[in-house]
Amino acid sequence: MTKGIIIETTEIGRIMTKKKVLFVCLGNICRSPMAEGIFKHKVEERGLTHLFEIDSAGTAAYHVGNLPDERMRETAYSHGILLNSKARQAVAEDLEEFDLILAMDKSNHRNLLKLALNGNAEKVRLMREFDTKAESMDVPDPYYGGVAGFEEVYQILDRSCNQLLDELA
Ligand code: 4NP
Repeated sequence: MTKGIIIETTEIGRIMTKKKVLFVCLGNICRSPMAEGIFKHKVEERGLTHLFEIDSAGTAAYHVGNLPDERMRETAYSHGILLNSKARQAVAEDLEEFDLILAMDKSNHRNLLKLALNGNAEKVRLMREFDTKAESMDVPDPYYGGVAGFEEVYQILDRSCNQLLDELA
């Protein structure tokens, strides 16, 4: 009887453990908040919100406290996604706390590895590993470009988030 209860409790604990996913770019105002917004949206659509904790951060502190870039918010909104996160800088504790950290480009990836202690480096992956049509491993930085760059980022992240969720769900 007691044995049965212990097994059941362990099983519930395993089922209820949330997967913690962090998306990271440079400024946390364009690519990573877009990735966070798309991934949250897809998780909600599949009724899996209770299984995930989702956040984003930047490797730099330039825009800490700011909303996502207006051009990224407009692009997101045109696809039915509201972006309202506030930028924050990634810290070493994030590498302990999150199960999977997705860097938008190779430079972000290198900078995240500098924060990775205690064997956490394997948690850090490139977002475009999950892009089924990747021509490059970087999600291009749209900040200094035109509006088309923001739509391209959306399309890359939409594909990548589909694949990521298929693999995690
Ligand atoms: P993100 O884009 O890394 O996708 O948020 C950028 C935002 C700001 C700057 C560079 C990239 N910046 O140089 O201020």
